[in-house]
Amino acid sequence: MANIIGGIGSSHIPAIGMAIARKLQQTPYWKSFFDGYAPIHDWLAREKPDVAIIFYNDHGLEFFLDKKPTFAIGAAAQYNSYDEGWGIDTIPPVIGNEDMSWHICNELVEDEFDITICQELGIDHGLTVPLQLMWPENSYGHMQVIPVVINCEQHPMPSPKRCFNLGRAIGKAVKSYQKDLKVVVFGTGGLSHQLDGRRAGHINKEFDLMCLDKIVNQPEELLNYSIRDMTELAGSQGVEFNMWLGMRGTLVDQVKQLHRNYHIPISNTGAGTLLLENSL
Ligand code: DHB
Ligand code: FE
Repeated sequence: MANIIGGIGSSHIPAIGMAIARKLQQTPYWKSFFDGYAPIHDWLAREKPDVAIIFYNDHGLEFFLDKKPTFAIGAAAQYNSYDEGWGIDTIPPVIGNEDMSWHICNELVEDEFDITICQELGIDHGLTVPLQLMWPENSYGHMQVIPVVINCEQHPMPSPKRCFNLGRAIGKAVKSYQKDLKVVVFGTGGLSHQLDGRRAGHINKEFDLMCLDKIVNQPEELLNYSIRDMTELAGSQGVEFNMWLGMRGTLVDQVKQLHRNYHIPISNTGAGTLLLENSL
């Protein structure tokens, strides 16, 4: 049986890719952010997951504003990365697990989730930067990745509750997959930020810290926010917290927080890092 061993929340901003390429990890601006990944590296090295299910948002690379699935899942043998305009390095191809992807897709449709199944899917910084953060020097080649894409670029966007419930359904689907695989789930993006408009630069530390507290063992308290609430509180791109809620939905009710980090600012964001251990 496949088991989810833990969940990880992480920033995904392109500037991190730049910092990695230029080896700036120990410079004053970046140090406390990158140092926040050391406990996660240790945990991954110890636990050795086989599969990473990664909730992220596609920023216009594969799904532009003319075609925008609410939820999409990769079901490809391999995913190639492209830079959609940030000037960051692409990363070596990412290996998929078609059989497990199809199992999850079948279960989700059965569970009344309408998903777009992608047998080809270009991946952007929302997925590639977290992979680089978790496995330095692009040492993720052994990992099988299942991308889960949630729309948070164009209205109407799915609510926090719906994203959490998608996570729940994916968690259930993983449990009914017959192969013995260790699975880690990522939620990428956030935390509060707004890149455009009159409030560009908006960061809400108090709200971010509350979200980091509640998502551990009271995630239900975060599920009644609307997209409008999230936009007001966390900024128009702060809605990316939905990826974290998707990740959290895959885990059991009570989890153990193994590590947390929060740093302002990383580019325009309040950058959160979180490692949760799931009980099986
Ligand atoms: C930034 C944040 C994002 O979520 C993103 O997708 C791109 C850039 C930023 O703060 O620079
Ligand atoms: Fe983003």
